[in-house]
Amino acid sequence: MRVGMLTSGGDCQALNATMRGIALTLYKQVKDIEIIGFKYGYKGLMYEDYVEMTPDDFKDILNKGGTILGTSRCPFKKMRVIEDGFDKVEAMKKTYKKLKLDCLFVLGGNGSLKSANMLAEEGCNVIGLPKTIDNDTWGTDYTFGYQSAINIATNYLDQIQTTAQSHNRVFVVEIMGHKVGHICLSAGIAAGVDVILLPEIPYDIKQIAKVVKKNVKNGKNYTVIACAEGAISKDEAKLSKKQYKLKIAAREGHSVIVDVANELAHYVDSEIRVSAAGHAQRGGEPCPYDRLMATRFGMMAAELLLEGKFGELVVLKENVVTSIPLSETAGKLKYVDVDGEMVQNAMRMGISFGVKN
Ligand code: F6P
Repeated sequence: MRVGMLTSGGDCQALNATMRGIALTLYKQVKDIEIIGFKYGYKGLMYEDYVEMTPDDFKDILNKGGTILGTSRCPFKKMRVIEDGFDKVEAMKKTYKKLKLDCLFVLGGNGSLKSANMLAEEGCNVIGLPKTIDNDTWGTDYTFGYQSAINIATNYLDQIQTTAQSHNRVFVVEIMGHKVGHICLSAGIAAGVDVILLPEIPYDIKQIAKVVKKNVKNGKNYTVIACAEGAISKDEAKLSKKQYKLKIAAREGHSVIVDVANELAHYVDSEIRVSAAGHAQRGGEPCPYDRLMATRFGMMAAELLLEGKFGELVVLKENVVTSIPLSETAGKLKYVDVDGEMVQNAMRMGISFGVKN
């Protein structure tokens, strides 16, 4: 049996732990197993850039961050675009067939899983594993990397709180999450911040200003605002997609935290600073929960192969690792449930989401 694996899209903690889970199960369960590792995601599959892996490659990587195979972003929307005469989909299928693969394991987030589904529809045996710190893959309660990112974001917010307190400052802190706010919501609650701004809940700057003023009035001399990368104001939410894109482009690289800070400065007297937790949220070693989940996902992926169940995505549902068809998840995002328990109870507890509670 010969199988391939690749890691695609933004990296995260526990990619290596997941590959180890697959490999250890297969080495134990299959007498003759060859594992091919494609370098830098789908690029490796397109350009036949791969390594034949050995059991040694999977040693001591359970708690190693990043990905031993490397990764890259190959946007789904460009997959079927022929560039300089190069047909990416045909090239990937050609490599798959040439290497006589029995299965390809794709460790990826939403875009990568859409491509995985496309390859499955093109006749390849594909098994997907849900990777992303964003936890926004539809159909699974958990994506590996998420808990490690929450831990880092929470620690970052904790550290900001002490310096904010010393200086009587307002801090607007950027937390990763362009389209969804899961990390920001979890880390914000875990760090006990005053305000959480999410892409799912357009903010009103006046409501944020109210929190800052109320804090000052109550003798709390500092305010910490956890702001997801993709947070949008009420006015921005009214824009068309095209207008919003133009507005983002006009920011010339600065992020939403600068807008929030500048807008807030019109309403409050406090000194305001911005700070971004940044790519550190994807870095370093996976936390124990991610090691556990990655291993469970990896083991399940290997079992799916042994059962001959392809075109599936490994998922967590009500604390049980199982699988769903890749076609079910492709193209959908799992947003923060604005009416759900976390947001609603956080509001009742007094955390502001930049709207009238
Ligand atoms: O998809 C994970 C993620 O870290 C997002 O939270 C973030 O918006 C994006 O990737 C950053 O991408 P890049 O590494 O390409 O800057």
